[in-house]
Amino acid sequence: MQYREFNKLGDKLSVLGFGAMRLPLNGDDPGNVKEKESIRLIRYAIDNGVNYIDTAYNYHKGKSEMIVGKALKDGYRDKVKLATKMPVWLTNAYEDFDKYLNEQLQKLDTAYIDFYLLHNLNKKYWRKLSGINVLDFVDKALQDGRIKHIGFSFHDDVSLFKEIIDAYDWDFCQIQYNYMNENFQAGTEGLEYAGSKNIPVMIMEPLLGGKLAKRPPKEIKDIWDKAAIKRTPAEWGLRWVLNHKQVAVVLSGMSTAKQVEENIKTAETALPGSLEQEELDMIKKVSEKYRSRIKVDCTGCGYCMPCPNKVWIPYNFEIYNDFYMYETDRYSTDMYRRLKTGNQAASACVECGKCEAACPQGLPIMETLKKVDGILGK
Ligand SMILES: NC(=O)c1ccc[n+]([C@@H]2O[C@H](COP(=O)([O-])OP(=O)(O)OC[C@H]3O[C@@H](n4cnc5c(N)ncnc54)[C@H](OP(=O)(O)O)[C@@H]3O)[C@@H](O)[C@H]2O)c1
Ligand code: SF4
Ligand code: SF4
Repeated sequence: MQYREFNKLGDKLSVLGFGAMRLPLNGDDPGNVKEKESIRLIRYAIDNGVNYIDTAYNYHKGKSEMIVGKALKDGYRDKVKLATKMPVWLTNAYEDFDKYLNEQLQKLDTAYIDFYLLHNLNKKYWRKLSGINVLDFVDKALQDGRIKHIGFSFHDDVSLFKEIIDAYDWDFCQIQYNYMNENFQAGTEGLEYAGSKNIPVMIMEPLLGGKLAKRPPKEIKDIWDKAAIKRTPAEWGLRWVLNHKQVAVVLSGMSTAKQVEENIKTAETALPGSLEQEELDMIKKVSEKYRSRIKVDCTGCGYCMPCPNKVWIPYNFEIYNDFYMYETDRYSTDMYRRLKTGNQAASACVECGKCEAACPQGLPIMETLKKVDGILGK
């Protein structure tokens, strides 16, 4: 295992972290986790050098923290740094911060959390938390020892990312980053900004939630096949992220022992700056080829929302694009079925036109929603 050193983090962390958001399931329900298998998987990763485990209050419908707590019994707690996240959508008053942190400590059955994150910061949550003095609470929890390091995970634009980075002396932060997301959310600009302030960065979705690790479409496979060194798409994806020196830990939501083994092996030699220029050029070609398969140029800005008829417009477009870009046929149709169950699917559009007037990209939203329903609603 490769361990990177950052002053702010204390002990060395394994560059591969275990993300407890995609544990093995019985069926499709994220709340129905195969508990014994998950515990075995987490311990297997720890036995093989992983020392950073990332969970959150809401993962697996609240079960993830409990399962991680169980996995860390029998001496495993002392072998790892444990990360979990404040459920910021539930903390509406100062007292809530204590309430949820104490509940999390109990669920995890631990006296302290090594890495605590304000989860999923965006404009709305950051303004709300700032208004109820979250940073005073953070100081207090650091002082009384319930948390050892403080950071935040982030899903919004890079200007807000910089604002939050500058607002506190953070120990670390967590962003979504992979070779398809260089200019998405915090992106490379955010990564480099955090690095310039000596704030180590943890990476989530390094394989775009698994889309970059699946069997690729033929035209993408043709590019990978030309590489001098043969590697799986998952290995290329992880290596690309680990090539950045600002990255402290790459989190991977591994769901099988085989994935754990492969990713540990990758992490051993994926040093910062270790990719050759021709390898970087090849990965760029892959990302351009994926991008050329986009069907609708929705940026996910959300200006078209809310739809009076509840259609979740950007998400309908995202899974429609995924269907064409990554050939995620089953995933996209499953997700569309779920949208339909919640009355948020493209089929619920009544063509009032309100969203089109608000879209800065001038997208023909109504016409495209019909196409989405035609393809994913089959
Ligand atoms: N703070 C936040 O807002 C937030 C948001 C997202 C994620 N996270 C954290 O970040 C972690 C990492 O994100 P992620 O789980 O989306 O990571 P990811 O690495 O992008 O995707 C994980 C998926 O990739 C596939 N995979 C991984 N290694 C593979 C391999 N060697 N070969 C083939 N497939 C492989 C698996 O898919 P299959 O299971 O389908 O095989 C796995 O479930 C999460 O688990 C969570 O802890 C945090
Ligand atoms: S046109 Fe359709 S999707 Fe757009 S706001 Fe009206 S009902 Fe919603
Ligand atoms: S306003 Fe347009 S670009 Fe933005 S999310 Fe809606 S459809 Fe996508």
